[in-house]
Amino acid sequence: MLEIKDLYVNYGNLQIIQGVSMTVKDGEMISLVGSNGAGKTTLLKAISGLKKINSGSIVFDGVDLTKLNPSKIAEHGVVQVPEGRKLFPDMSVQENLELGSYLKGPKQKRKDTLEYVYNMMPDLKVKAKQSAGSLSGGQQQMVAIGRGLMCCPKLLIFDEPSIGLSPLLTDIMFDIIEKVKKDGVTIMLVEQNVQNALKLADRGYVLEQGIISMEGKASDLLQDENLKKAYLGM
Ligand SMILES: Nc1ncnc2c1ncn2[C@@H]1O[C@H](COP(=O)(O)OP(=O)(O)O)[C@@H](O)[C@H]1O
Ligand SMILES: [Mg+2]
Repeated sequence: MLEIKDLYVNYGNLQIIQGVSMTVKDGEMISLVGSNGAGKTTLLKAISGLKKINSGSIVFDGVDLTKLNPSKIAEHGVVQVPEGRKLFPDMSVQENLELGSYLKGPKQKRKDTLEYVYNMMPDLKVKAKQSAGSLSGGQQQMVAIGRGLMCCPKLLIFDEPSIGLSPLLTDIMFDIIEKVKKDGVTIMLVEQNVQNALKLADRGYVLEQGIISMEGKASDLLQDENLKKAYLGM
């Protein structure tokens, strides 16, 4: 489904992504974990067409994404739930959700998808008319996930959905992501919360200073002594 090969991305003279190769297969859930500043968000921006790449390739279902603009990339079904949610705080919850379905295909299915989102996250239905900015952090993250779902993704990419949330809300968030996966959406989850992210995933990648330092079955990575020492404080 998604195949990234030997990708390099720079900010000016700074090499951020330095030869990353990774794949996400249809129906899989992949976790990409790594510390703050490792380059995770930069990699995701490159996938979504928000950041120009220097070299390498990003191919989704046979289409070269590096030649497309962000909205064309979303049309192909590659959708992001961005870091920091990026909601419109003065607009209502429902308006924020509807913004996710601005493309032609998703717009036609807007009513049904909205119902699907509200069924998955009933809290949002209760708050539909409230301004998004008045919601708690956890609920705002749900709106961001809902907005992503409104775009009818094939591949939904989450950038640190649990950041700033309490352990309880983090669990709720990961439950929602699991449900989305069960409904057939392929998932790429980017997290600093290594334990939780790998527990849910099929496979995992560890990004360190723009380089993939480890990859494999998520359950194997969780047993890896180096990973335990570096990321799980064991
Ligand atoms: N807009 C930018 N301009 C210059 N450098 C940036 C920019 N965005 C991120 N960086 C740098 O790129 C590196 C990786 O950042 P980022 O991809 O946000 O990491 P992560 O998401 O893993 O925390 C950091 O050193 C950061 O300072
Ligand atoms: Mg980031």
